Amino acid sequence: MKNPRNLTGFLAAVLVFFIGAALFISSLTRTGNSFLCSLPSLAVDDYTPTEIQLQAILHYATSQTTPQQSKGEISVSFEVLKSRSPCNFLVFGLGHDSLMWASFNPRGTTLFLEEDPKWVQTVLKKAPQLRAETVNYQTQLKQADDLLSSYKSEPACAPSEAVLRGNTRCRLALSNLPDEVYEKEWDLIMIDAPRGYFPEAPGRMGAIFSAAIMARRRQGSGPTHVFLHDVDRKVEKAFAEKFLCRKYLVKAVGRLWHFEIPSATNVTDADGASFC
Ligand SMILES: C[S@@+](CC[C@H](N)C(=O)[O-])C[C@H]1O[C@@H](n2cnc3c(N)ncnc32)[C@H](O)[C@@H]1O
Repeated sequence: MKNPRNLTGFLAAVLVFFIGAALFISSLTRTGNSFLCSLPSLAVDDYTPTEIQLQAILHYATSQTTPQQSKGEISVSFEVLKSRSPCNFLVFGLGHDSLMWASFNPRGTTLFLEEDPKWVQTVLKKAPQLRAETVNYQTQLKQADDLLSSYKSEPACAPSEAVLRGNTRCRLALSNLPDEVYEKEWDLIMIDAPRGYFPEAPGRMGAIFSAAIMARRRQGSGPTHVFLHDVDRKVEKAFAEKFLCRKYLVKAVGRLWHFEIPSATNVTDADGASFC
């Protein structure tokens, strides 16, 4: 470079570059990130673990009690949560799996509906980060046959008409849930409760019917993912086939069925009188 002006400009540019690089590297050092690890997360810091994820690791690493669903069954909803989270996840039943479900959806909303108020207290005492509401079910397992054969004669249960909130005429509609359940659109619904293994237990008839109504009324994009456990039992199977529909069944692993249910507004072949 013969022109001294050009030389001065060049040196100034080099100086600016090195000062910039030094400031950049020192800012990375201050936050404790290595240069390489920080590259993908410069804009989004989503990989920082949340409190509930850390609690879940501590809990499952130190507990002898594991969730009742098998690894294969859990993996079905885990895969969907990986692609949909953060999302709205409604879970029927509070159990040994609750911290796991909530930590799979760390920045989303995971709400548990539980029939037994004492069990809610026991679980929340150990895991106060969980969000759980008590639900008073109006049905019993022993009424399942009657509910399945009589719902068609009640217009308030018709797929084109049925709402949930306040719908006391349709015995299958869960009409007295917390407002939040009706006001949110649920991307995933897990039905692993209420209990359905003795005649006086509430059974899952209302939960299955109500999940179908929520899915049909969805306004947002994409289907509603509904997971139903214990499909080896007669009532779960019969109600799933009637309201969640074989044609929407996308996966079956162990005792778990996974449905992808489209909103009724996206279904062109529906006759309006049946759910499937
Ligand atoms: C069929 S269990 C499903 C449990 C869940 N999948 C798990 O891994 O823990 C669902 C219901 O059983 C009841 N339940 C489960 N564990 C319980 C416990 N240790 N004590 C009392 N009730 C329990 C709760 O009412 C719960 O909603």
